[in-house]
Amino acid sequence: MTTTTRIAVTGAASGLGREIALRWARAGARVALADINAERLATVAQEVVAAGGQALVQKCDVRLAADVDALVDACSREWGGLDIFVNNAGVAGGGTFEKLTDEDWQWLLDINLMGVVRGARAVVPLFKRQQSGVLVNIASMAGLLAPPGMSSYNVAKTGVVSLSETLHGELAPFGIQVTCVCPSFFRTNLMESLRTPDAAMRKSFDRLLDSSDISAADIADRIHRDVQAGRFLCLPHAKGRSAWWTKRLWYSRYLAEMVKIGQSLARRR
Ligand SMILES: NC(=O)c1ccc[n+]([C@@H]2O[C@H](COP(=O)([O-])OP(=O)(O)OC[C@H]3O[C@@H](n4cnc5c(N)ncnc54)[C@H](O)[C@@H]3O)[C@@H](O)[C@H]2O)c1
Repeated sequence: MTTTTRIAVTGAASGLGREIALRWARAGARVALADINAERLATVAQEVVAAGGQALVQKCDVRLAADVDALVDACSREWGGLDIFVNNAGVAGGGTFEKLTDEDWQWLLDINLMGVVRGARAVVPLFKRQQSGVLVNIASMAGLLAPPGMSSYNVAKTGVVSLSETLHGELAPFGIQVTCVCPSFFRTNLMESLRTPDAAMRKSFDRLLDSSDISAADIADRIHRDVQAGRFLCLPHAKGRSAWWTKRLWYSRYLAEMVKIGQSLARRR
């Protein structure tokens, strides 16, 4: 890596992406900020500079391969390469399985799963040429556990975990690190993107976002630490870590917990 780290973050205009950008900016990094929200992106660019970093702003919709390729090209052109690429852009979707339409599924998978595939596809050739680089994929605890009422989100995030594990094995021989981040719920602007056919789901998601004992800034700190330490799996929430252990060591107990959540959702309708 060069002395000044060069990092690109998708979905950098808000929430966790913004905090990741600021965390690296405080360490003096050059930060490429990519998002569909140009107005918020401009504000974050000012914050990055105020925090001690340099900002490169790139309008980028992760649904469009050309936009994601252009982001990586801009970093190569401006900085001669890239050290870290963070696939962070994402949206929220939920609702009882039978109410979700094909369109709901396609919308969510296109952004939360295919967006990550496009990010990886754009940056891996550059990382291979450099023989270095860190690919950070923001998945979710929903990629390790599968709570009822959020099937499309769970499937997308499980796909991100699986892709991350695959690339971890595939890219390690080329000196490329993969870090897969699986946070539980935490407060951001994620509810602005929520698509759900169930009004009750909106309220319960909103409550869940407030249930976190750590903030987006704490999670960005944890990601920074785990990336520096070369860790594959980053589990920022203590409750998430213990739920993940439960699933692996006591699968029947995990399944019973999921049924309890399903029963409480069913009672609310
Ligand atoms: N907040 C949580 O509880 C939580 C929990 C686990 C994982 N995550 C994941 O963290 C990531 C960041 O979400 P957040 O909570 O900070 O939400 P957020 O809504 O605050 O930020 C998401 C950003 O992604 C951008 N975005 C949405 N669609 C895009 C697209 N097509 N192309 C480019 N940018 C796009 C939005 O404009 C926004 O700036 C997501 O992948 C999300 O799934 C969030």
